[in-house]
Amino acid sequence: MSVIRLQTVGSFSAMHPFQCVLRARRCLRRGPLASVSWLLLRTCRAHSSVPSFACPSPQRQQEDGVWKDFSSRLATGPTFQDFLRSASVPPEQPSSSEVEDPPPYLTVDELLGRQRRVYLETYGCQMNVNDTEIAWSILQKSGYLRTSNLQEADVILLVTCSIREKAEQTIWNRLHQLKSLKSKRLRSRVPLRIGILGCMAERLKEEILNREKMVDILAGPDAYRDLPRLLAVAESGQQAANVLLSLDETYADVMPVQTSPSATSAFVSIMRGCDNMCSYCIVPFTRGRERSRPVASILEEVRKLSEQGLKEVTLLGQNVNSFRDNSEVQFNNAVSTNLSRGFSTNYKAKQGGLRFAHLLDQVSRIDPEMRIRFTSPHPKDFPDEVLQLIRERDNICKQIHLPAQSGSSRVLEAMRRGYSREAYVELIHHIRESIPGVSLSSDFIAGFCGETEEDHLQTVSLLREVQYNIGFLFAYSMRQKTRAYHRLKDDIPEEVKLRRLEELITVFREEATKANKSFVGCTQLVLVEGPSKRSAADLCGRNDGNLKVIFADVEMEDATDSGLRVRAQPGDYVLVKITSASSQTLKGHVLCKTTLKDSTAYC
Ligand code: 5AD
Ligand code: SF4
Repeated sequence: MSVIRLQTVGSFSAMHPFQCVLRARRCLRRGPLASVSWLLLRTCRAHSSVPSFACPSPQRQQEDGVWKDFSSRLATGPTFQDFLRSASVPPEQPSSSEVEDPPPYLTVDELLGRQRRVYLETYGCQMNVNDTEIAWSILQKSGYLRTSNLQEADVILLVTCSIREKAEQTIWNRLHQLKSLKSKRLRSRVPLRIGILGCMAERLKEEILNREKMVDILAGPDAYRDLPRLLAVAESGQQAANVLLSLDETYADVMPVQTSPSATSAFVSIMRGCDNMCSYCIVPFTRGRERSRPVASILEEVRKLSEQGLKEVTLLGQNVNSFRDNSEVQFNNAVSTNLSRGFSTNYKAKQGGLRFAHLLDQVSRIDPEMRIRFTSPHPKDFPDEVLQLIRERDNICKQIHLPAQSGSSRVLEAMRRGYSREAYVELIHHIRESIPGVSLSSDFIAGFCGETEEDHLQTVSLLREVQYNIGFLFAYSMRQKTRAYHRLKDDIPEEVKLRRLEELITVFREEATKANKSFVGCTQLVLVEGPSKRSAADLCGRNDGNLKVIFADVEMEDATDSGLRVRAQPGDYVLVKITSASSQTLKGHVLCKTTLKDSTAYC
């Protein structure tokens, strides 16, 4: 298969878009027939009204005095739509020996969904859940319909994850299943189109198209705005791909569509990408550089969610607490960043901008009845202002995810986490002193390169020492491109990794059960989510620490409307007296309906 890469980077002042298309056409005529369309156009978000092909370097433009002239010509000149409309009359005549091929650009009509039904399937982390809604929001605006019935779909899009080998294997298996569905459709009136979105598209690029010819489109995490075009190209029978990563794409203006009207909580993406470069992690390569969404657009989204009656938002990002909005010049001072004591970064110190404490403060002021959570943070960015705010504000949940990854300083160094076990434990103590009753959770990796039995026991001892309430534990999976792949040896046999993982899970459960049992006899403020999965007679919700709480669905006093007897509804706050606890759930009986600001949990 041959691939034509039509890539415009940086200064484009010399080339008109039409020239660019013609150049590609000449290239297509001369070269072997391209079966994949790689239109990788670098975009210029600062001038979002400027078509993506017109993105001159401001410095160069200003230097030769052309910029002003360019701006005024741009304002008064034809738009991209004009270009598309008029493009059907090519200014260059093909030579008599050349056969005229169909125009290689798309009409506005072809970019429309025309009521085609899209089935979206999400794999992996919460960021992918949010990205699914962003992709859907973009397609909905283009005239697509959404379906939850695979059989009636015209387009199937898988939002994929690459974090571990197993996650990718799941997608390959799924593609295998979808093959027969697609071949059946080949005989029907509307062909089925299949797309791979997200991290796996970014990591494997054309390898996916080569391996699975039934895949029609690939879109990396920063290319969702391009989905209508990619699908339009796919309609002509070509495979289409855009896996260009961006330095500034945050989809700030794309408000994800809230799909479930009964939902009590929502995720709000505040930043994308990661600059940390932990040696085991593929994320910086699949999701690109760290960038934050402007504060104003985050506040606007949270306000809308509050107006819709949602009771909880989780601020989302790969490193939420490293948030830094540099979009407003007046805040771009030279104030250096306060890292947690004993922590360092793999990247050059960043300066200025509006930081996470500011955002958290602003978000939590919007609606005192709305709970605020955030995930996933990095332990290096927990300055005292953030801890103080969590302690003081009733509606910021006293729950912190503090991914440790290992309890051995030697392994932490190999992982390039930027802290030692001692610095991490000191931070835990500091957090517990600053926020009494805080609930802690963590991520751990078992069997990282060179991990000895002694290192493993150090992780076991950290789990015992901290006694986390919630834990996410994984066996190490070597990922290409990472530093560990290039510099270290994946030398722990699979069965040893799995045995160590089992041991970590057992210890985590024992300690979490102990930690959660301390809630027995206490009263917890619970946000009701709905019926319990196990029994229709029970309701399920979450306490401030994000632990699941199960209680019988019975009548109770409504403390917000004295005298009334009511049953709890999704979105209500209720007080529940805890009667038993396991490593994952609390059980109890409901006392009354209340509000967030009028009640606190007590023992
Ligand atoms: N293998 C196993 N687990 C990994 N994680 C990230 N990369 C890998 C890998 N290569 C885990 C880390 C991270 C979580 C999201 O996934 O624990 O915090
Ligand atoms: Fe991966 Fe480390 Fe970034 Fe988390 S902080 S996404 S583990 S590189």
